[in-house]
Amino acid sequence: MLLFYEKIDGEKGTVMENYIDKKWWKEGVAYQIYVRSFMDSNGDGVGDLRGIIERLDYLKHLGIDIIYLNPINKSPNDDNGYDISDFRDIMDEFGTISDFEELIAESHKRNMKIIMDLVINHSSDEHPWFVESRKNKQNPYRDYYIWQPGKDNGPPNNWGSFFGGSAWEYDKTTNEYYLHIFSKKQPDFNWRNENLRRELKAIIKFWINKGVDGFRMDAINHIEKDFSFADGVVKNGEVYGDFIKYVQNLPEVHGYIKEIRKELFSSGEHTLIGETGGINYENAFIYTGSDRKELDMIFHFDMHSVGKGEKDWERKPIDLIKDIKEKMSGWQMRKEEEGWCPLFYSNHDTTRTLSRLGNDQKYWAQSAKMLATLQFTQRGTPFIYYGDEIGMTNAKDFKLEDYRDVAVFNKYKDLVDTKIVTEEKYLIGLSYTSRDNSRTPMQWDDSKNSGFTSGTSWIKTNSNYNEINVENQLEDEQSILNYYRKLIALRNEKEVLVYGNFNEINGEDKEIYSYIRELNGERVLIIVNFFGNEPTFKAPIEIDIEKARLVLSNYKLEEMRKETKEIVLKPYEARIYSL
Ligand code: GLC
Ligand code: CA
Repeated sequence: MLLFYEKIDGEKGTVMENYIDKKWWKEGVAYQIYVRSFMDSNGDGVGDLRGIIERLDYLKHLGIDIIYLNPINKSPNDDNGYDISDFRDIMDEFGTISDFEELIAESHKRNMKIIMDLVINHSSDEHPWFVESRKNKQNPYRDYYIWQPGKDNGPPNNWGSFFGGSAWEYDKTTNEYYLHIFSKKQPDFNWRNENLRRELKAIIKFWINKGVDGFRMDAINHIEKDFSFADGVVKNGEVYGDFIKYVQNLPEVHGYIKEIRKELFSSGEHTLIGETGGINYENAFIYTGSDRKELDMIFHFDMHSVGKGEKDWERKPIDLIKDIKEKMSGWQMRKEEEGWCPLFYSNHDTTRTLSRLGNDQKYWAQSAKMLATLQFTQRGTPFIYYGDEIGMTNAKDFKLEDYRDVAVFNKYKDLVDTKIVTEEKYLIGLSYTSRDNSRTPMQWDDSKNSGFTSGTSWIKTNSNYNEINVENQLEDEQSILNYYRKLIALRNEKEVLVYGNFNEINGEDKEIYSYIRELNGERVLIIVNFFGNEPTFKAPIEIDIEKARLVLSNYKLEEMRKETKEIVLKPYEARIYSL
């Protein structure tokens, strides 16, 4: 089925008509909240739901339409809520069900939708199902999880988990091992069990009934495993075997997602987003194609390791064509029926956008605005990761004891304890790659703890909060925050920025990324200088740049200036023209 098509008049090459499949989740601007770090309302050092309610007006003022919350269900917090012990309740530290109902009501009152994280590849080992499952082999819940006998006095195979260590944990009660592709406190579900699936669907229904508008399905492409449990290949310098091809994107995953979509989401009011590692713009349609009836969008991992060298503690310069254009334009050039995409460069599993893709020192503001320009002028739904709108950076001067991520300490055992890597190198590596870099408290103002908490924060506040904070930027017309507001207003005003076609120009340029968006004859030209040099943009002949009208830029430009065929750009300069 073709939802969006254009009839091109072959002769003139002009767009004659457009049919657009309009959806709230395509038009809105989303904001991701790592609840633990956003706003603490009661001084216990942990962000919470009432804290978010207090800041809804801030989000509204910014121009947000959709709020995506990282997990809020009851959890012992081995992996910050990604280990759920009660799917129908709220984490004690975050509040109560009635706080959540109030958050939904207050958001809806302000015309903002709520997307919830749905963590159903695994549960916590403290979930009652798992507690039952480990009791004996006959227990009705045994088969909700994946149990195997050991081999040669060790685990069933050599798989290593994503968070370090073996993917199997021995349990002496029944003398078997259970599978956990993340931490050992996150046992994987056995999706082949129909009772399990029935219970999970009832849980989703429970949250739909509370008024949730959409879900981000965590690690959803891992829900099926290869039950032959063959050993993986051990790569150079690694301790465990690679299990990716046995636990990721297996064909049966599609059947499970379709089943959920069909039974629970046939009304079409909600949006379903999947987190899918190992998927890129060339094959994403297998989940998001309009004929598949599975997911609306997927969170990929394309931008996660841009700039990372061979090893975690090594850097490599960004190659604009290979690292950025090829990927971003790759997503843009897909056909409408292949699926919609979220526009995001960071989340809670990456480092900060600005530190990874921009320049968080000399050109802090310019590069933050340049990156935002890309994010709001490509086709897709922008997801702002909390704090990116004020240019928050990677954690500064974190010592080993300042980190909180379970993965940091597991991998320390695998790499430093075994002397594969020195502690010094490991720490440098963390400063470039650790997820904690993007989990530091939101920087609201320059008071103690950046206005995030009156108590002691669960994770250290970034030392640059005195300069980088919301309060400063709300007042400053030229701030990053106000630039985001302008971009959002522009996207709301110009449908071409949401639904328009994407055509890259000067694709071979190594420093400038430029493209045209077009819809029903309206054309917008975007030019960004990705680095700190001063390259020249040469307008292709088909663009009448002299007549172009500048609508937004991250530099103050002389009002009376006349555009010429060649424009010398300043470091990290970004311009948006109406043609
Ligand atoms: C996803 C989440 C990540 C979490 C993991 C296990 O990758 O984004 O934060 O640790 O799943 O649930
Ligand atoms: Ca709190």
